[in-house]
Amino acid sequence: MTDIKNRDDLLFLMQEFYSTMLKDEEIGYIFTDVAKLDLKHHLPLLADFWNNALFHTGGYKNNVVQIHKNLDVLEKLTPEHFKRWQFLLIASVDANFTGEISEKMKLRASQIGMTIQAKLGHYS
Ligand code: HEM
Repeated sequence: MTDIKNRDDLLFLMQEFYSTMLKDEEIGYIFTDVAKLDLKHHLPLLADFWNNALFHTGGYKNNVVQIHKNLDVLEKLTPEHFKRWQFLLIASVDANFTGEISEKMKLRASQIGMTIQAKLGHYS
């Protein structure tokens, strides 16, 4: 296994992550039934987000906290939802990549998850 190297790796990883997440009994419905995501549109934005977060490429300008605040109005995002999201992200990274950037991605995901939860105001 190799480390995450570029945006192509991140797009592949997001496809893997979402293929498990959309089928997940605990949080899958948030993507399919609540947000009704168009993956063709959504996954490239996530690849841009992670490309910037891990490789400082610029090119991602959306407000991630606000996006989840809007989602939280439609369906309350609980600490359990975040734990499950985190678990599935770690499983997807570990199944496909290994190395320094992979570790950094898991750490950043946890930190950003904490930030989003704190800003939602129902952190526990
Ligand atoms: C309970 C946990 C989470 C759930 C259920 C969730 C779900 C979603 C959904 C449904 C969207 C699309 C919203 C829309 O466009 O209508 C979204 C967007 C996004 N999520 Fe999450 N999310 C979670 C946690 C996280 C975390 C921890 C991160 C980052 C580490 C993250 C990163 C993103 C990004 C970057 C976008 C925006 C992509 C864009 O449109 O620019 N999410 N999330």
